[in-house]
Amino acid sequence: MFEFLKHRPKSAIPTFAPLGTDIHCHLLPGVDDGSKSNEESLACLQVMRDAGFENVICTPHYQYPRFPNEETDILNRFDTLKIDIAAAKQKNIPNLTGVAGEYRVDTGFPARIENNRFLLVGGKYVLVEFSLHQQVIGLDQVMFDLQMKNYEIILAHPERYPYYSGTSSKLQHLKDMGINFQVNILSLSGFYGESPKRKAFEMIEKGWVEFMGTDMHNTLYAQALIDATHDRKIIKLMEKHKFLNSHVNDPEPLKTKKI
Ligand SMILES: [Fe+2]
Repeated sequence: MFEFLKHRPKSAIPTFAPLGTDIHCHLLPGVDDGSKSNEESLACLQVMRDAGFENVICTPHYQYPRFPNEETDILNRFDTLKIDIAAAKQKNIPNLTGVAGEYRVDTGFPARIENNRFLLVGGKYVLVEFSLHQQVIGLDQVMFDLQMKNYEIILAHPERYPYYSGTSSKLQHLKDMGINFQVNILSLSGFYGESPKRKAFEMIEKGWVEFMGTDMHNTLYAQALIDATHDRKIIKLMEKHKFLNSHVNDPEPLKTKKI
């Protein structure tokens, strides 16, 4: 058992139960900068269940050359994880309902579009992330090309890109293109600093955010998620705002705002 679970001052409460499904986490052991073992994944999953999540979709990084993951291998590892978790007979953990990816829009991305090499969230959404340091050159064209292939797009943690201010015209432009936003729960508690926190609240208040995600990587994140479930501002926000997480597997997206 991980030390933090033995000695944590409090357990999670089900603040995020209205979301139902977590659409963004890194709990396939050993494939990216997320969980390193089945034991760590189990510990994180237990906290996620306590926090209210019934279902979890795993989304490992695809980023060249740092995480050169390949879809067939990821699918096999996901099957193995499910078997291992079932064998552990741990109660009170979420269902692992899907495996997709968090795709970095990098130099290899256009070829990925060309060859339709995506594992999709809910069967239709490509979860994308951008560099945390510099804006993507030619972004509009890449997003347009994805949409031309009939993919719905979810942008992971728009609040974390330092070159976009909270509700800037550049982000407005992405919303106008029909791109869904997924904010990280831990941004709301200041896990990534004050600026992402402020921007996350601003975007949600503006009605720009369709999805929430844990972006769970390891037990440090799990501890922060426990704390987030007790955060009064976050509890209030969860009571006030509706998100589409529980509809992620619907055959048609609920909201489409194409140009
Ligand atoms: Fe992530």
